[in-house]
Amino acid sequence: MTDLRIEIGRRPVVDGVSFAVPDGARVGIIGESGSGKSLTALAILGLLPDGARASGSVRWNGREILGLPDRELARLRGDDIGMVFQEPRTALNPIRTVGRQIGESVRIHERVSRREALRRAVTEAERVALPDPERIVSRYPHQLSGGQRQRVAIAMALACRPRLLIADEPTTALDVTIQAGVLALLRTLVQDAGMSLVFITHDLAVLAQVATHAVVLEHGRVVEQGGVADLLRAPSSPVTRALLRDATATLWHPERPQASVSDAGARAVADESAFPAASGGVVDDPPDGMTDSPPPAEAPGASETERTP
Ligand SMILES: Nc1ncnc2c1ncn2[C@@H]1O[C@H](COP(=O)(O)OP(=O)(O)OP(=O)(O)O)[C@@H](O)[C@H]1O
Ligand SMILES: [Mg+2]
Repeated sequence: MTDLRIEIGRRPVVDGVSFAVPDGARVGIIGESGSGKSLTALAILGLLPDGARASGSVRWNGREILGLPDRELARLRGDDIGMVFQEPRTALNPIRTVGRQIGESVRIHERVSRREALRRAVTEAERVALPDPERIVSRYPHQLSGGQRQRVAIAMALACRPRLLIADEPTTALDVTIQAGVLALLRTLVQDAGMSLVFITHDLAVLAQVATHAVVLEHGRVVEQGGVADLLRAPSSPVTRALLRDATATLWHPERPQASVSDAGARAVADESAFPAASGGVVDDPPDGMTDSPPPAEAPGASETERTP
């Protein structure tokens, strides 16, 4: 992406943003609320809100994709670029089982029957470490915990086997412990598949758990970018230093009182044991009772809308 500019009305909201996402890199875009993170990501996907005008250049596979017609952008989103947003509820259809929704994502990418897609949904559910995948695919989104819903959203995004995943604050709506599990999952999946990641957050501690590179935005401009370890060790902009101070509370570990924040952050990049919760795997099991609740009655002939609570 080179010199991306976005205006809404006459107001410039993103102003000359340039960065690259090398193959396999995990780039974290960080900045305060309103700094232009989401718009920058949405511009890659051609999903800017009405009234927003983008200029500059966004290249994918050597090809200019800024301003491509909707049909081609839609194909790109189905095939090459997946996305996960902050609030999984918005990505999920409340009246369809999660299996059907994951299966539909599979079908965007591959010509398989509905039945086969449903079978694949179980595998995809397994891949994102959803508990009891065979059963969970017949559930509706509201019957899942927040962390599980986000895992479903990730499974949907990954079912298309994208080469780039864009995740806009995918864990901000989750509790801290659940957040760590989802972050660890995201990082592992992206790493194992050799995918690239653009990850948006306002929290440097979160960024350090996931990203290899960071782009720091302020008022729509890049104030600093580089490798995460370097950025944590020697932040050059006041914005980054402030973000680092904010992250202190998260990174500080009572058992390591001697560690400075930048030490802890730099170590976190190389060694995930700095975040014990992050290596714990699935931590967002729903409270007892939730897992054991029966699946919704499959009333023959009932339409899906009638099955909602
Ligand atoms: N649909 C819209 N209409 C008008 N202004 C908008 C719209 N979307 C975003 N903006 C403005 O553009 C600027 C950048 O917004 P953006 O959503 O990219 O910020 P952000 O960094 O993602 O913030 P947050 O952390 O709160 O999600 C903000 O000043 C915002 O008010
Ligand atoms: Mg945003």
